[in-house]
Amino acid sequence: MGGWQAVDDYIADKLLGADDALAATLANNAAHGLPPIDVSAAQGKMLFLLAQTAGAKNILEIGTLGGYSTIWLARALPEDGRLVTLELEPHHADVARTNLERAGVGGLVDIRVGSASDSLAAMTGEAPFDFVFIDADKQSNAHYVCEAIRLGRPGTTIVVDNVVREGGVLEVDSDDEKIIGTRALFNMLADEPRLDATAVQTVGAKKWDGFVLARVK
Ligand code: SAH
Ligand code: DHB
Ligand code: MG
Repeated sequence: MGGWQAVDDYIADKLLGADDALAATLANNAAHGLPPIDVSAAQGKMLFLLAQTAGAKNILEIGTLGGYSTIWLARALPEDGRLVTLELEPHHADVARTNLERAGVGGLVDIRVGSASDSLAAMTGEAPFDFVFIDADKQSNAHYVCEAIRLGRPGTTIVVDNVVREGGVLEVDSDDEKIIGTRALFNMLADEPRLDATAVQTVGAKKWDGFVLARVK
């Protein structure tokens, strides 16, 4: 019997099909030394479907890396849609720019380089975001969700990646900042009256992890 990776391969083979732009993105990321921590293909398509189902015209992403998830999300946009993606590392942003152009979505995407907290603080008076994908430094996740609410509207969808961390979320006394940040996120969600939220565990190419899915009331 195959394992989690084999099942993800089966899902990709049956439901996702070959995708030159996405394959080129992963190859280009590796060639430029980016860590292979993009969402999986099955997860990317889930993001695409969620954004499309939400009818998203304005998408915010926090954590671009090489733009793999960005491409999936941008493909969900209508022609007059836009995606703002926030990335700390200029090198990651440069690689992402190439990948987004190659995928034909460069014109829809605005990459803002710098600490996401600073970029978010500078965002006022923009059209509200319909869909927010949070996938950067896990320490800041609670803050990013607060900012997503501020920059959203009733009905905005919020997805947060990597909230299970192979069960690490249960480690009460962890000194791992990612775990501490994840637990702070759950505490914030538990006390946040402006959201309906759940978390769904996942296994697959990204091992055992999970997403938060939330909707602004
Ligand atoms: N969403 C991407 C993966 C993102 S990996 C995908 O699935 O394809 C996380 C990214 O967040 C990395 O590129 C990292 O440089 C960036 N990052 C880390 N800390 C950040 C911060 N404070 N502000 C903005 N980006 C940050
Ligand atoms: C890490 C970050 C991610 O966004 C991810 O999907 C997997 C791992 C990390 O920082 O280790
Ligand atoms: Mg992630």
